[in-house]
Amino acid sequence: MQSPFPTLFKTAAAAASILIMNACSPASEDNAGQPEPQTGDGDSNAIAKAGFGETKAGEATEIYTLTNKNGLVAKVTTYGATLVELHLPDKDGNLVDVINGFDNVAGYEGDGNQYFGCTTGRVCNRIAKGKFTLDGEEYTLATNNEPNHLHGGGDKALSKQVWKAEPSAEAQAVTFSLTSPDGEEGYPGNLSMKVTYTLTDENELRIDYEATTDKATPVNLTNHAYFNLGGAGSGTILSHELTLNADNYTATDDTLIPTGKIEPVADTALDFRKAHVIGERIPDKEAKETADCETSTLGYDHNFVVNGEAGTMRLAARLKDPASGRVMEIHTDQPGIQFYSGNFLMEQEGKGGKKYPFRGALCLETQHFPDSVNHEDFPSTILKPGDTYSTTTVHRFSAE
Ligand code: BGC
Repeated sequence: MQSPFPTLFKTAAAAASILIMNACSPASEDNAGQPEPQTGDGDSNAIAKAGFGETKAGEATEIYTLTNKNGLVAKVTTYGATLVELHLPDKDGNLVDVINGFDNVAGYEGDGNQYFGCTTGRVCNRIAKGKFTLDGEEYTLATNNEPNHLHGGGDKALSKQVWKAEPSAEAQAVTFSLTSPDGEEGYPGNLSMKVTYTLTDENELRIDYEATTDKATPVNLTNHAYFNLGGAGSGTILSHELTLNADNYTATDDTLIPTGKIEPVADTALDFRKAHVIGERIPDKEAKETADCETSTLGYDHNFVVNGEAGTMRLAARLKDPASGRVMEIHTDQPGIQFYSGNFLMEQEGKGGKKYPFRGALCLETQHFPDSVNHEDFPSTILKPGDTYSTTTVHRFSAE
């Protein structure tokens, strides 16, 4: 069996009840109240909207604030249909922002942005050598992560575009929409997409995706939020405990392209079927930055095959920060989930001057398997005219 972390990792490998939070007010406030609402029409469901700055190309962007009855706050921007802030209470009710991001659109357009919180696509993760063949035609995409295509490519990747926003009148929800024209970033078909963020009173952040096309095209959308349940910029995630509902993972080559083999996690450091502390079996344990790593993956960067039937909602992951007691469960109808342990974070400065160190946050990206378009045996990512791409991921928060 091929191991993702050959010697080092294999050696290391040798080695829920949820308390739903009370509807209580948070014990202390962080900056969750910003920005100032502009709606002010007396509607109790009014969703605050504020400017988020102009892009380099001169396009205006906005940020929307969703709040629930328990004091949770999520902020989302039209730039990249991105989740910018997420304020969650700890076991004593203290709110803190748990995701990486920037204070304005200039930060998101800067070099420090590694897909923070964005909607990623048209096809998230990698496509081998930026090539695929569909209906007899070969397509060539940007190889922006040499030698492969990553997260939708270059300047017109979905994460770099300004989406149109429509706040809901009934729920704490915003729907972002965007049509990507035929040939954009090399992909076929005019692809019309909608991404809806909903913050519920059950302390869930729900993300619904929809897309239609006029020509067969691969689609694989995800959200790329980086979480640190102790608070973004508060240190590493190595002490977080992770459970993954996955018996198998997709084995990859050294460039993180699936070999096509589905391998069992049993007896490897990828076995998170029971909760494990992330730092317990991570390779290059002592590494303080990316350059210190000797393994090709630099830590965890794997697609896990979620147990149960794709297309039905089921638990994919549970993450807990023992210090604060914050817990996040992820439920999805997607076949896979990418666990990425922030291996390229580089002390970049984010919101409020906070620094995001190496392994200072992690991503749990629900998705179809990487490079599916080149693997007939993987669940298909091809959307056909007349069909609707539809997928949902729910993040459920609690503290214990
Ligand atoms: C990928 C990593 C990549 C990162 C970029 C993750 O989804 O799995 O390989 O480096 O995104 O931020």
